[in-house]
Amino acid sequence: METQTSQKQVVIPQTDFLPIQGTDYIEFYVGNAKQAAHFYKTAFGFQSLAYAGLETGLRDRTSYVLRQGKITLVLSTPLNSQSPLAEHIRKHGDGVKVIAFLVDDARLSFEETVKRGAKPYLEPVVETDESGTVVRSGIYTYGETVHLFVERKNYTGLFLPSYVKWESEYNPAEIGLKYVDHCVGNVELGHMNTWAKFYENVLGFKNLITFDDKDISTEYTALMSKVMMNGNGRIKFPINEPAKGKKKSQIEEYLDFYEGAGCQHIAVATDNIIETVTQMRQRGVEFLYVPGTYYDTVPERVGKIKEDLVTLKNLGIMADRDEEGYLLQIFTRPVEDRPTLFYEIIQREGATSFGKGNFQALFESIEAEQERRGTL
Ligand code: FE2
Repeated sequence: METQTSQKQVVIPQTDFLPIQGTDYIEFYVGNAKQAAHFYKTAFGFQSLAYAGLETGLRDRTSYVLRQGKITLVLSTPLNSQSPLAEHIRKHGDGVKVIAFLVDDARLSFEETVKRGAKPYLEPVVETDESGTVVRSGIYTYGETVHLFVERKNYTGLFLPSYVKWESEYNPAEIGLKYVDHCVGNVELGHMNTWAKFYENVLGFKNLITFDDKDISTEYTALMSKVMMNGNGRIKFPINEPAKGKKKSQIEEYLDFYEGAGCQHIAVATDNIIETVTQMRQRGVEFLYVPGTYYDTVPERVGKIKEDLVTLKNLGIMADRDEEGYLLQIFTRPVEDRPTLFYEIIQREGATSFGKGNFQALFESIEAEQERRGTL
């Protein structure tokens, strides 16, 4: 397709061979999906959406689907020891298995990515019920994590065929979580560039920014990171690898306990981080500790912001600024007993970066926790 304007300028269309409309859902393999679902409803304000399990004809697994804003989570658990889900949990503990993309054509997405070197995970499958048809396919990424391509343009149902509406009498209010801002992967030492290249060559992503160990290091530990972004900017995947430091880095701690590469944190956006974090704290979510002295330099470093600094300090919310604006962010502690997956809550006021000005304070805080866990 070629478009010509009256000025006779030829506009060459972007050749994004993998147009991704956004994150469709994130699926976790967990040891007890019923209890995990309760946690995400109570603590994070997710709403009950759909269910599949013994009652709907499944024999080997149960899945609960929850939603808040544009974020859809699927919590799946095995019903017997032979299930591949059981094997995944035995090795990794609770964690992210699937980061699914909403696409226009799941068959083409599979074809294009496999042609470019992706390892197939799921050949295109067509599922149909009275609400229409969904096509899904999938490829492997780092570790045992996978990306699914979900095509639902001919589907009007709640989630996927074979799921039923999940009616619940327990419905805690939402807390203002809107969409997935970015998902971070931790990979083994020396593998960051391999996976950055994978997103570039196989999925057509671009390298948005690179942080080296001079950007991200404390007295003891260091890491490197490359942020990969898809064509329309809706998907951002920072890829971390440990760098050499005096002691064990938080990335190595993750790799040890997850027993391999995997998703380290999911950042979710809110329009009102003060309200969201106030709710989360009341509901029992634990956050990384930010020392009070951190706030001494915020006015000078970040400049004028509309939020009250004392309120941010009381809640432990950090601030940073780039050329385009500022951002507010906070990090939870790991949400399972292995020190692996955690969450970031982020409010963007123009800023498009990732809080580089907070790396120092953040990593010192993580190190203090590692010290307590005896894993530094
Ligand atoms: Fe992040």
